[in-house]
Amino acid sequence: MRTFDVNSKKDIQELFLDCKKALDISYSPYSQNRVGACIISATGAKYYGSNIENASYGLTMCAERTAMFNARINNVKKEDQLVIGIAADFNSYAWPCGACRQVMVELLPLECHIVIFNKEGEYKIWQVKDCMPGIFSSSDLKEKN
Ligand code: THU
Repeated sequence: MRTFDVNSKKDIQELFLDCKKALDISYSPYSQNRVGACIISATGAKYYGSNIENASYGLTMCAERTAMFNARINNVKKEDQLVIGIAADFNSYAWPCGACRQVMVELLPLECHIVIFNKEGEYKIWQVKDCMPGIFSSSDLKEKN
């Protein structure tokens, strides 16, 4: 069962609303830049994340990683994660930062879609496998035995 169709305007619009729902619970008193993310799994379940800042600025957690950790601790299988949407109240698109891209490579399947929205709901669609050149992943590590 596929619960998200990347070619469906309706599914994309719903994902945008879900990201904005997550954005509304952002904790961003320092930057005032709210970010929301939502992962949809093969069962149709949704896993939300928002950015969570800290007075010790470097401890800030991005919305995408919050959503990925949310899916992970709810025991969603890697291959069952179909899409991650990201929306922000930035002036530009909600491009995922480098740290989030590396975590995407670890926790999401390479085919998983990434839908990056701007404030108006316009979007770009990538897949995890396209999100950085020369991906470093577990397959690069030496055997442990
Ligand atoms: N932020 C995210 O949530 N995701 C990203 O990929 C980039 C940045 C957040 C972190 C911080 O709370 C705010 O945006 C400004 O950098």
